[in-house]
Formats: sequence, C-alpha cells, structure tokens
Amino acid sequence: MIVAIGADHGGYILKKELSDLLEKLNHEVLDIGAHSYDSLDDYPDFAQAVAQTVASGKAERGIMLCGSGVGAAITANKIKGIRASVCHDAYSAHQGVEHDEMNVICIGARVIGAESAKEIVSSFLNANFIPEEKYIRRLNKIKKLEDG
Ligand code: RB5
Repeated sequence: MIVAIGADHGGYILKKELSDLLEKLNHEVLDIGAHSYDSLDDYPDFAQAVAQTVASGKAERGIMLCGSGVGAAITANKIKGIRASVCHDAYSAHQGVEHDEMNVICIGARVIGAESAKEIVSSFLNANFIPEEKYIRRLNKIKKLEDG
C-alpha cells in the first residue's frame, strides 16, 4: 500500500521509527516531512500535505504525527475527502477504518510510546472498510455535510 507519513517536531523521531516499520512491512512510504528537526515548525503544514496526498489518490492512507495528534486531526479533516482521527489504541485504529473509512490516522508522540504506535499503525493498515449498508449510509451523511 502507498502510505503518506508526516510529522512536525513533536512527532519527528517517531516518524523515522514508523517509516522503518512500514518499509519492513513492504509498504511504499511517501515521507512528506519534516525532513529535519525544527522546534519551530508548524503541524498544519505537514498535516495538510499528508491529507492532500491521500485526497488526491497519490497515497491510499496517511499517518500524521504531532505532540498530541489533535492538531494534526483538526487540520487533516479540513481537506475534502479526508476522514482523520487521533487513535491511541489498536481497536479504534481498525474499527475506524472498518466502520468509518478513516483514511488518515493521527498519533501523539508525546502521548504513547513507539511500540504502541507500531501496533496501532499495523492495525490501521491491515483494516478494510466493511461495505455494509449501515456504514455506507452513515458515510453518506458525512459526505453530505462536507458538500455543504
Ligand atoms: C507542538 O509543540 C505541538 O503543539 C504540536 O505537535 C501538537 O501537539 C498539536 O496538536
């Protein structure tokens, strides 16, 4: 799977660890940055880039890391077609895809450790949307809101 990954300074170190895992699992990694540590960089720049890479179809899923995951999710959800959430447990990571077709996962590198993050990301990438009528119906309600 083609996976876009990004992080601000809060998630910079975790991005390297997760990118290594993704490569080990034979995913194609699109690292949209930050490409160097800068304590003054801004998470919206990277969250926007991850979200647009997914929304454009250049990547199937996105992973965005910041200190808490919160700013990343707020930003990514501004991009049409993106369904992003903070997930700090494996259940939410796969259920969010299965029921809600979550396509960007946001993780707070100051909240959970690298090993938990790896399990969460694996759950996210191994999950697929379940095309049951009730899930499609709910998604259509979200899409209607997005269209205004
Ligand atoms: C950066 O210090 C921090 O505010 C940011 O990484 C993130 O936690 C925002 O949600």
